[in-house]
Amino acid sequence: METLHGSPGWDQMWENARLATFDPAVRTPYGQLDRHAIIVRGDRILAVAPMDSPAVEGFCGQIHNCEGRWVTPGLIDCHTHLVWGGSRAAEWEMRLSGVPYAEIARRGGGILSTVRSTRAMTEDELFAAAVPRLRALMAEGVTTVEIKSGYGLTLDDELKMLRVARRLAESFPVEVSPTLLAAHAVPPEFTGRADEYVSLIVNEIIPAAAEEKLAEAADVFCEQIAFSREQCDRVLAAARAHGLAVKGHVEQLSSLGGVTLIAKHGGWSADHLEYLNHADIAVMARRGTVAVLLPGAYYFLREQQKPPVEELRTAGVPMAVGSDLNPGTSPFASLRLAMNQACVLFGLTPEEPLAGATREAARALGRADRLGTLAVAKQADFLVWDVEHPAEIVCSLGTNPLRERVVRGQVENAHP
Ligand code: NIG
Ligand code: FE
Repeated sequence: METLHGSPGWDQMWENARLATFDPAVRTPYGQLDRHAIIVRGDRILAVAPMDSPAVEGFCGQIHNCEGRWVTPGLIDCHTHLVWGGSRAAEWEMRLSGVPYAEIARRGGGILSTVRSTRAMTEDELFAAAVPRLRALMAEGVTTVEIKSGYGLTLDDELKMLRVARRLAESFPVEVSPTLLAAHAVPPEFTGRADEYVSLIVNEIIPAAAEEKLAEAADVFCEQIAFSREQCDRVLAAARAHGLAVKGHVEQLSSLGGVTLIAKHGGWSADHLEYLNHADIAVMARRGTVAVLLPGAYYFLREQQKPPVEELRTAGVPMAVGSDLNPGTSPFASLRLAMNQACVLFGLTPEEPLAGATREAARALGRADRLGTLAVAKQADFLVWDVEHPAEIVCSLGTNPLRERVVRGQVENAHP
């Protein structure tokens, strides 16, 4: 193996590349730099340099020839629920015949049906179920993934889900950002007593997840079928008090003002946003809150109301795109499909979701200083693609043009 990967401590260079750096300092579309090389020391980018520069010409170390191929930063899926048990395909069948998502949720289906299946599974079983989903994301270039709990809704079951997320991180060459989403739905044993469940989250679940370092952020579902603004406020305040970052599923099905709550708590991101109003956009712009667009849920729920993309763009709100991989509203393990949907359904340019699944997704996970662009001192997470233009990564689905996946400076199997 040592001859294949070079001696430890040797610098590596990926040469003859066309870079889509997404570095704002590179003022071309995609941050494009032709005939460039990336020089890597350990797990960091040491230099991004033209092929005719002294750094490249005098390079001494292991060389990987990209033969003119495009190289992008590793993809970051900043919103997934990829640990779950059971299947909701039968529910999807009902939805297609006209029963609305909110109605199914009220009848005890939806999220609660996944809660029943997830509670019934052991940590090992949940891990085994999650592996193919994670592999599918990684195979198309994901090097960092956010994973939420939220289908346990008891102290033990939420921690069980987060332990699965931790085990996934330990088992695969991928970085995991674990998020506690105990405020996803009111569990059946608390029906009619949502405030008491919120007290359980605040007094027991958040402190335990923070204490065991099983989560780095807390999320809430601020919606009529889930938690009120006041209840979410209690959860987010407790999360902050325990040193967790915050984010939220807000303004997805109605406008409850969740986004101002996220901004008030200095949240990393506000996600979904179909019902975002004008005043909220100004708040997000002021606070630098990332707008995470999740077109998969919009598509699967056959929603009519789209997030106000043009206004977000004009206001300069950073836009990220996530898969929202979950068994109910977005049951597909493909960030490339989500990027495609962001263009076709929400009107993004192909460059926007690519930036939204690299630079802006890094920002949505509090990792902008280390991930998301091809620039000096960033972590050496990048992808070598067999495409003629970066838009092809978003446009052409069904085949996988990923040739090489580099994580922390190590070449990993492109198709794990
Ligand atoms: O992001 N909105 C709430 N949560 C998920 C749906 C989860 C589910 O239906 O299981 C979402 O769409
Ligand atoms: Fe979600």
